[in-house]
Amino acid sequence: MSFREKYGPWAVVAGGSEGIGGEFSSYLAARGINVVVIARRAEKVAAKCAELEDQYRVETVRLPLDLGGDDVLERVREATNNLDVGFLVYNAGLASLGPVQDLDIDYELYRLNLNVRNALALTLHFVKRFVPRQKGGIVLVSSSGGVVGTPYIQTYSATKAYLFTLAEALWAELTDYGIDVLAVLPGNTIGQQFQDVPPGTPGFQVAREVVEAAFEAFGKQSTVLSGEAAVATVGRYFDTAKRQEGILAMKNIFQEMMKQYGP
Ligand SMILES: NC(=O)c1ccc[n+]([C@@H]2O[C@H](COP(=O)([O-])OP(=O)(O)OC[C@H]3O[C@@H](n4cnc5c(N)ncnc54)[C@H](OP(=O)(O)O)[C@@H]3O)[C@@H](O)[C@H]2O)c1
Repeated sequence: MSFREKYGPWAVVAGGSEGIGGEFSSYLAARGINVVVIARRAEKVAAKCAELEDQYRVETVRLPLDLGGDDVLERVREATNNLDVGFLVYNAGLASLGPVQDLDIDYELYRLNLNVRNALALTLHFVKRFVPRQKGGIVLVSSSGGVVGTPYIQTYSATKAYLFTLAEALWAELTDYGIDVLAVLPGNTIGQQFQDVPPGTPGFQVAREVVEAAFEAFGKQSTVLSGEAAVATVGRYFDTAKRQEGILAMKNIFQEMMKQYGP
């Protein structure tokens, strides 16, 4: 099967207009996959879609939407019900820096909605669509900041740990249905968050490098750390091969439990 046959004809890129998500949109379109681009700013969504249509001759759907909102699943369902979607990238995420006692609770709950709740909702929604097709792909964009509980980005760090753990479990479970799952854990990457950093600055990668690392690992492993900074800081605490051994051992244990006690 070609890449497009396995993962197309449509992809949804949640947070797909700029930064790492913008590069995911381009990578998929370059392989002939039509893209539903979701991001908050309608003009950026329109610009990305126009670029994909012009450069790669693919179709696009513009979906301006706050992925931290309460209506995300409904809006995405409406926009994609008539499309044959084979790939989901959940890229949008919010990071901020500060002491835990200063955090605003409402803002943190919004972060949870954006980084976790709607990532889970869209993942489960598309899993249900991919399983009967016996093919598909899911990429969850986590962070090297999720490898260990990280002070001063504590809540962000916890949301990103959730994402890669979820991806690991689904990687092992969904391979039985021909579906590939990967969590990408980028280190410092020039994007909205580090927009003034010039390309080539040591310790910083560009978004394209994250996406290249992702597709090098995709279909082969459960997670990938991307970038010098990620490897230098938490690389030694995050061994994908070792983690995979553990995941597969747990898969066997829980398969046996299901045989005995049912799902
Ligand atoms: N950059 C880094 O150094 C770094 C490091 C580790 C992990 N990450 C993770 O990588 C992912 C992408 O990071 P990035 O730096 O490329 O991000 P970014 O440049 O800030 O944004 C990426 C895309 O997400 C969209 N987006 C942001 N918030 C959104 C929201 N609430 N609802 C809908 N769309 C939203 C943006 O468009 P709009 O702004 O128009 O909505 C844009 O299309 C994030 O999950 C981040 O946590 C980044």
